[in-house]
Amino acid sequence: MKRFVYMLLTMVLTLSLVACDNSQDQTEDNGTSTSKTTETTVAKEGDSVLIAYFTAAENSGVDVTSSASYTTVNGSDVGRVRALADMIQKGTGGELFSIQTKTIYPANGEELIDYAAQEQDEDARPILTSEIKNLDQYNVVFIGYPTWWYDMPQALYSFFDTYDFSGKTIVPFNVHNGSQFSGTIETIQELEPDAKVITNGFTVSENDVADASEDVQAWLTSLGY
Ligand SMILES: Cc1cc2nc3c(=O)[nH]c(=O)nc-3n(C[C@H](O)[C@H](O)[C@H](O)COP(=O)(O)O)c2cc1C
Repeated sequence: MKRFVYMLLTMVLTLSLVACDNSQDQTEDNGTSTSKTTETTVAKEGDSVLIAYFTAAENSGVDVTSSASYTTVNGSDVGRVRALADMIQKGTGGELFSIQTKTIYPANGEELIDYAAQEQDEDARPILTSEIKNLDQYNVVFIGYPTWWYDMPQALYSFFDTYDFSGKTIVPFNVHNGSQFSGTIETIQELEPDAKVITNGFTVSENDVADASEDVQAWLTSLGY
């Protein structure tokens, strides 16, 4: 039932995004969305950048191509959020960090939808199995995640419970199929009140990830990279 409601809402949301007045909508034709009004320079001399990301494809215990979602970029099969992380890595020279969980998420898409709904209902905190050992050395942390049920995956709540990003700059990036960030940037700021959370994060439709590298670079340029 929840799955049906999700699909229905996604259809309605997609149609309303298409119908939305362009002057208010920050979504560009290719499905990417970055703020055009907020100019924020993130990059500074001597920065150390970490790019942390969560993708089901690296948490399903199967080969990426057997997971619920992946894309192919330059001949490589990767989780969609990982594909964005790679593009950001190329543009910033930062270090990649895969958020991994003890939970093995269903590789089957429909089962994953139901599993994630239950996790969210329970406000679960999946146990993390990967660890950032030297967080102190980074002052800018890009954090990427898919939209799951109009929110971050519960693993991101575990992640923000685990690490204190006070004094650091957090730069969100996201993959969705209609909901974009869906209020998650505000949630991150609430969870990390002493971090500077950049509001013009990068969000892209799952269908456009493979072709997003130019848009990612343009966004990074707007942040000073
Ligand atoms: C469990 C689940 C819930 C999802 N919920 C939403 C949603 O609420 N809104 C949305 O736009 N997309 C939703 N999606 C689509 C994902 O955001 C999209 O497929 C994303 O590419 C997944 O990233 P990944 O391939 O790196 O894991 C959902 C996907 C899954 C698997």
